[in-house]
Amino acid sequence: MSTITVTPLGFAAGAQVTGIDLSKPLSELQQRQINKAWLEHIVLVFPGQELTPAQQIAFTGSFGTLDQHGSQAPTTLHPEHREILVLSNKVVNGKKSGTYNSGRNWHTDLSYTTRPAKGAVIHCKEKPPVGGDTMWANLYLALETLSPTIRKLLDGLEAVHDVTLVQGIELRAPEVVAEMKKRTPPVVHPVVRTHPETGRKSLLVNQRIRRFVGMSDEESQSLLAMLNTHATSPEFVYRHRWSLGDVVMWDNRCSCHVALGDFDQTKPRVMFRCSLEGEVESGRLTNDIGGTDRQTMLQAVAAVS
Ligand code: OGA
Ligand code: MN
Repeated sequence: MSTITVTPLGFAAGAQVTGIDLSKPLSELQQRQINKAWLEHIVLVFPGQELTPAQQIAFTGSFGTLDQHGSQAPTTLHPEHREILVLSNKVVNGKKSGTYNSGRNWHTDLSYTTRPAKGAVIHCKEKPPVGGDTMWANLYLALETLSPTIRKLLDGLEAVHDVTLVQGIELRAPEVVAEMKKRTPPVVHPVVRTHPETGRKSLLVNQRIRRFVGMSDEESQSLLAMLNTHATSPEFVYRHRWSLGDVVMWDNRCSCHVALGDFDQTKPRVMFRCSLEGEVESGRLTNDIGGTDRQTMLQAVAAVS
């Protein structure tokens, strides 16, 4: 039986996989080879595929449990397959899709829920002539390149992830936003997490973090800005230029990504996305998203002095 060919596309992440037709059921060997390459390269690109929704669902299901998209507004799902989230900027019946500007800031899918996704598989159906790229950052490297002093500070630190920080969420249809807020109140996750398969630690930071637990807002914002800038340094990033038919599969347990709005918005960009449920509930709900600002702390000092 022929084996797949894996060719690295970037230093920090990204590899192209050829010699396989994803519309056919995977053999056990192919499944193992793809999983191994996935763990190593984080983002796998399978060019020139042509999958029906059912075939995309079957392929994704070879790597875990498909997310039924309970945290997404039902109007954003494929009408016949709720396992497929339709990422589209098309206007239908005079209405913008609820996903027309999805993924516009650095994020890890579903980190605003207690169970961030294991990974996802996107199939490129329509694309603008130029732009509409997606970038991924390798968060193992992000953690491993921090100084021991900062790593000590991060050990045991937790962050509040908040769906209302999804970039441009306020521009989406109000009913879609209301639905998302209702489904996903803020959650707390550890800043350092361990990948369940590789056992390697990575840095779970992104632009959907409201604050760190136990820090003032000023402290949180400064630390977050430093960590986000570091984590998304060009050295840790793979940038994908889409071609029609690409299937891209990423490991969400050690990466963050951003969908760039660098294209003519009158041109269609349509992607079908399947997501894999996270293996573990790593987060907990919180009611406490408010922090202590410096002014309150100064008043507290004044009161006791
Ligand atoms: C997403 C996302 C990437 C893209 O749907 O969560 O990040 O390129 N999409 O559309
Ligand atoms: Mn995403």
